[in-house]
Amino acid sequence: MPPHSPPDSLMLRRAFGCFPTGVPVVATRAADGSFAGLPVNSYTSLSLDPPLVLWSIDKACDQMPAFADTDHYAVNILSAEQQDISNRLAMPGEDKLRDIPHEKGAGDAPLLPGCCAQIQCEIAERVEGGDHLILIGRVLATARSERDPLVYHGGGYRALK
Ligand SMILES: Cc1cc2nc3c(=O)[nH]c(=O)nc-3n(C[C@H](O)[C@H](O)[C@H](O)COP(=O)(O)O)c2cc1C
Repeated sequence: MPPHSPPDSLMLRRAFGCFPTGVPVVATRAADGSFAGLPVNSYTSLSLDPPLVLWSIDKACDQMPAFADTDHYAVNILSAEQQDISNRLAMPGEDKLRDIPHEKGAGDAPLLPGCCAQIQCEIAERVEGGDHLILIGRVLATARSERDPLVYHGGGYRALK
């Protein structure tokens, strides 16, 4: 394993991609009433007491203004059957949640049915993180199912078995 130092962006992506994650869709209601949502693998739990989670958004993302303004977001941890939702939301486009069934949670943040878990949050803190903005959320409510999760590893989707 020869080191790349300093690593270029491709090498960084490849090394970061060795870390397998779930695929949460983080979603919110924008100030204009439209809904924003994107799949992320930067999500992680942060604290039990107080209950906190975090994830980060690329400042260049078209949906950045929606998350820069909102007070709430929902984390929808996708199940193995929901890869198509991740694909649709990862593509550029306007009002991408319009055709994806959802209910409204705290602050009208979209809750997607059929997920492994839904975690409703209010934003506790925004922290600068290089070319990303870290959004720390205080958990208001959770729901979970026994569904298998969608997994992301090495630039592709996986299943647990
Ligand atoms: C599995 C996966 C994980 C991703 N993780 C993140 C992330 O943590 N933060 C982020 O800003 N974008 C992440 N993205 C990219 C965004 O989902 C994608 O760029 C965004 O939805 C495009 O939105 P836009 O058209 O509004 O710019 C990820 C994409 C995929 C497929």
